[in-house]
Amino acid sequence: MSKSAPQFIVLNGNLIPYEEATVHVMSPALKYGLSVFEGLRAYWSDAHQDLYVFRLQDHTDRLLQSMKLLRFKHDFDGAEINRMTLDLLRRNDVRAAAHIRTTAYLDGQGEQQVKGPVSYAISALEKPRTAKIDAGIRCQVSSWMRMADNVMPPRIKCGGNYVNGRLARYQAIQDGYDEAILLNTLGKVAEGPGTCIFFVRKGELVTPDMASGILESLTRDTVLRLARERGIAVSERTVDRTELYAADEVFMVGSAAELVPVVDIDGIAIGPGLRGPLTTQLQQAYFETVTGAIKAPAGWLTSVHKS
Ligand SMILES: Cc1ncc(COP(=O)(O)O)c(C=O)c1O
Repeated sequence: MSKSAPQFIVLNGNLIPYEEATVHVMSPALKYGLSVFEGLRAYWSDAHQDLYVFRLQDHTDRLLQSMKLLRFKHDFDGAEINRMTLDLLRRNDVRAAAHIRTTAYLDGQGEQQVKGPVSYAISALEKPRTAKIDAGIRCQVSSWMRMADNVMPPRIKCGGNYVNGRLARYQAIQDGYDEAILLNTLGKVAEGPGTCIFFVRKGELVTPDMASGILESLTRDTVLRLARERGIAVSERTVDRTELYAADEVFMVGSAAELVPVVDIDGIAIGPGLRGPLTTQLQQAYFETVTGAIKAPAGWLTSVHKS
């Protein structure tokens, strides 16, 4: 796939030229940020000469959940999203790592309370692995708080929620860091603007629980499963900010970010300030799983060119 725009994009069940997928400025999606989306990756396997979409059904289920919680009334179903995703990858003849974005949005020209019409688009673009996947990133604990479930639920993956992440990320970058870590309104660790967070201390892997103000991350779920299968002790619980500083290892996870080491937080080195052994082990397990190099649980890999 070329770095330039791909030939096709999906709009409402049709494969159309990429440039023609437009939205009206008076749509509730644009006026009020009323869109929900998924970001997922597809991985090319040289060994299998096939492309695998990672956790397609789970992403589609989360998209449907986001629409349900925002009362979107849509006339397409999950099977259509899955089918069109695969059609798009085949039609664009994607044979390299790709990032897929599925967006469902309030179209038309209604006000905040309308339920429809709901349109959807699916794109697949080249997205290289982050350059800091080995060396790790430096993070800032943000002075911006993660919005609470009774304000803007982080569980709903909607466009508007990303204003919160933008404020935090912008501040972090301006202050010379790579990424932000957000605390929730109770002062406990929540997540990054586009990732969940893990730390390792004395051999135990810890991550904020689902009630900490986080997205129900599929990568978080993947990493927890990979860790448990490898006999690593895991805990999902409330996490204090200073536990991160005191950790032996910290890393962030997400479909786009994959599994990125965090080597410094607020100028405090995490462990020796290098990617740690458990992070390395889980990174390797993750990369082998998503490319089909080791057996993935049923339903995690969807073959594009051989199914
Ligand atoms: C706010 C936020 N948290 C966590 C994640 C990680 O979620 P997932 O692993 O499902 O991509 C994302 C990425 O989608 C995100 O935007």
